[in-house]
Amino acid sequence: HFRAVIFDLDGVITDTARYHHRAWKRLADELNIDFDEAFAENLKGIDRRASLQMILDRGNVAVDGAEFEHLCEMKNDWYRELIGSMTRDDLLPGAFEALKAVRNAGLRIGLASVSRNAPTILERLGITDMFDTVVDAGLLKRGKPDPEIFLKAAADLGVDPEDCLGVEDAASGVAAIKAAGMAALGIGNPSVLGQADAVISGLDDFILDEYLFEAPIEQAS
Ligand code: BG6
Ligand code: MG
Repeated sequence: HFRAVIFDLDGVITDTARYHHRAWKRLADELNIDFDEAFAENLKGIDRRASLQMILDRGNVAVDGAEFEHLCEMKNDWYRELIGSMTRDDLLPGAFEALKAVRNAGLRIGLASVSRNAPTILERLGITDMFDTVVDAGLLKRGKPDPEIFLKAAADLGVDPEDCLGVEDAASGVAAIKAAGMAALGIGNPSVLGQADAVISGLDDFILDEYLFEAPIEQAS
């Protein structure tokens, strides 16, 4: 059964997915580019530069390199304003308990977030030392849905991918987990996480024993 659990951060452990959403929407509004819920859902899990490119493509807007960097910085400044007041209370329900359960079961824990703000957020939440590895997003060559980040986490942990359970709220993230050859637990809406082996609505429904002893895990209803 599983020897490690590799968690995504934004939208799984804490509700920062809504802050990314808000900051990107603000940028899209300034550029007069249409930004709806379905589009926002597709942006989940996508790294900063690729997200901006998707927004610009949607609006058929072309910018030069300097402007591209400027727009990335603007969005990140707004995002950092939103996360600036986060505390331990911003852990999603069940997140801390899930991490503790994994740890108590003797499994290793990895973080696979493409966000360069992830270490700051872990600090604010007070959970940095619960992770055996936090993949450095700055060193990645390819973002999700590429499996690179999950494979890197597994390698850091010294665990074979097939012995890892990946936990994700984004379709791009679930695709990355499956491409890495891992079992995927989706968090959120089964209709957008169809590739996951099972889907729960949040970590408050996380029951480690079920995933440990029922490999391969089954699609939840
Ligand atoms: C992911 C989020 O975790 O991190 C994306 O799901 C976000 O929405 C990405 O774009 C990159 O984050 P950052 O903090 O490096 O801009
Ligand atoms: Mg996420």
